[in-house]
Amino acid sequence: MRLSLRFIIPLTVVLTLMAYGLAPLADELTNRWFIRDLDIRAQLISTTIQESLIPLIEKKETSRVKNLFERFTKDERLFALGYCDPSHRLIYKTQTFPEAVGCQPKEISAPEIIELPDGAVHISHQTLQEDSVQYGELIVIHDMSFVERRSTLTKQYIFYLFLILGAVISLVTVFIAQLSWKGWVSGIRAILKGEGLVRPHSQTAELKPIMKDVRALVRDLERDRKVRDELQINWSPRTLKELLHNELAGDEILIVSNREPYIHNHKEGKAIVQVPASGLVTALEPIMRACSGTWIAHGSGTADKEFVDKNDHVMVPPEAPSYRIRRVWLTREQEQGYYYGFSNEGLWPLCHIAHTRPTFRTSDWQQYVEVNQKFADAVVSEAKTKDPVVLVQDYHFALLPKMVREQLPNATIISFWHIPWPNPEAFGICPWREEILEGMLGSSILGFHTRFHCNNFLDSVDRFMECRIDRETSTISFEKKLTTVNAYPISIEWPSRWLKGQKSVPECRAHIRRLNDIVLDCKLGIGVDRLDYTKGILERFLTVERLFELNPEWIGKFTFIQIAAPTRSLISQYQHFENDVRALAARINQRFASSGWQPIILKAEHHEPEQVFEYFRAADVCFVSSLHDGMNLVAKEFVSARDDEQGVLILSQFAGASRELPEAIIVNPYNIDLCANALAGALNMPPREQRDRMRSMRGLLQEFNVFRWAGRMLIDAARIRQQNRFMSKIRDSGLSYFSRKK
Ligand code: G6P
Repeated sequence: MRLSLRFIIPLTVVLTLMAYGLAPLADELTNRWFIRDLDIRAQLISTTIQESLIPLIEKKETSRVKNLFERFTKDERLFALGYCDPSHRLIYKTQTFPEAVGCQPKEISAPEIIELPDGAVHISHQTLQEDSVQYGELIVIHDMSFVERRSTLTKQYIFYLFLILGAVISLVTVFIAQLSWKGWVSGIRAILKGEGLVRPHSQTAELKPIMKDVRALVRDLERDRKVRDELQINWSPRTLKELLHNELAGDEILIVSNREPYIHNHKEGKAIVQVPASGLVTALEPIMRACSGTWIAHGSGTADKEFVDKNDHVMVPPEAPSYRIRRVWLTREQEQGYYYGFSNEGLWPLCHIAHTRPTFRTSDWQQYVEVNQKFADAVVSEAKTKDPVVLVQDYHFALLPKMVREQLPNATIISFWHIPWPNPEAFGICPWREEILEGMLGSSILGFHTRFHCNNFLDSVDRFMECRIDRETSTISFEKKLTTVNAYPISIEWPSRWLKGQKSVPECRAHIRRLNDIVLDCKLGIGVDRLDYTKGILERFLTVERLFELNPEWIGKFTFIQIAAPTRSLISQYQHFENDVRALAARINQRFASSGWQPIILKAEHHEPEQVFEYFRAADVCFVSSLHDGMNLVAKEFVSARDDEQGVLILSQFAGASRELPEAIIVNPYNIDLCANALAGALNMPPREQRDRMRSMRGLLQEFNVFRWAGRMLIDAARIRQQNRFMSKIRDSGLSYFSRKK
């Protein structure tokens, strides 16, 4: 209908304009014909009347002339006749002869048209002549009102003609256009949607030869547009919300992780709420604030049960509730086997090349399977729709994607592996490697921090599974299901909410120094980690020691504060590690400390993010020396805390963050001498250079923040959902070209 109007309206307008434009032209033409007609007619009348008139004139038979004239003027078009003698005197005239018309003094000229009160008249002067004797002139006056009448009629005819013509042309055009347009549009549509392959015998048949090319072109354009769009978006909680609203139409979002974002613990007789030291929590919490939804996690806090409702739900954040946590309770055995055992003694060291041997126990594996199933059931029971978007976090839930897929086949499952993925040789020692891979391949999208880890994963699948891998599109097809494997480097909230309410940098410097008995002009280094052997804390302390050995001028002038949150303390390797860290700090302190000064201050306790940010702002150097790390968000948080654009970041080349922050001083933490030199360089770095490096890193993080990280995954998820919905429609309708062919 709209299409028809689009044709008819302009066509009608054009034809109407044409009708209006042509009418005067046609009028002019017909007028000319009529006048010529009257000229001839006047001549004819003159010739006809002359024979009878001349003898009467000669005999001056006035009444007979008049009779003759009256007879002729009975013709309705002949208005009047008059006779002028050779001396141009009007001798005879009919009664209707107009006053205004007289004899022609000069030679007979062209006929004229004059306007009388009753209308226009055509005046023709005809010479009366016989045997070359001139008898004066005959004035023949024709009434022209009939010409006007005819002209009006002609105009009307032309107008109606064009109108009818317009209507006919419109209808014919629209009819033809509709036929071919429908065909082309549905053809193009079909190609864009992939239907082109589905209905080969329909009207799209004429497009078949170019189908492949058009689809490839559309894919390229789409890819370009995606890259351009993503680059142009200024990612924030608002844009993320808009994305959820527009691309996912408010679809349900469920997050599953082991660690919960808010833990209720008993401390000194009171229940307090704590934000755990976890990169995963740091990244996902702002996302959840932005999109609401349900976060399913292990209720591990000692006071957690006191804060949930009958469905094990608790609304958070405590200060402004906007989403809910569904707490899942685990028995001691489950926690032991699944969390401490298989996850943290098995998979954690397996994936981190930190030279700690993984331990695999069958009993741990059984608990791991059981708990994954428990969480998968929790996902299914929390889901209000058949196709929620489920964000599965980390190595605790390698089996869960497949388990959820079995119960919610239409769910979009995005799994993100927050830690590195090893090469196939390293991964291959896991006794349940096939089960792990199969579980993960239940995901629609599988994300890692770096392309390197994606490639390691594809290689592992290639080595241990029977499936099809398309390296160009980075997809794995396993049991008729597709998993897209992509790099999504995680990041932090920008601007960080922990910056709000912070004191100025000089105030933080003064306060932190006062708090730790450090003199004001003493330079400060900071390290913030969980007490984990992958973090390179021992290497960091050895670096501080080496600095004093190589640059004794720093003795008494530099202190390193290590904030180390205790973690996984039931695992013997972690207990040994904590002991090693404490012992090394004590040894170095013993070696160099003097009255009122200590080289290393070890604060092995949990710190809330606000406190950590104050330390970041107070420090001159932040040292991140991970032996292997998926990303490491401490490095990014240090940068976000320094709105004064000062402070130096020393960053391990084995942390994913080093790919994005080359302006940091990048080091190999195993090379202690090199690290000590880097530390000395950092302490001596001029403020201008600090500012240049910091400014550049801040610029990057502002743009590549955690909202972009989540946004990119959700955009990909939205695309996959669209494709899946389309494909299931096709399947349901039984129209598939391929299924018919087979
Ligand atoms: C890493 C892992 C997270 C984990 C965090 C803290 O960042 O990738 O999944 O939550 O460490 O470890 P924890 O065992 O205390 O949760």
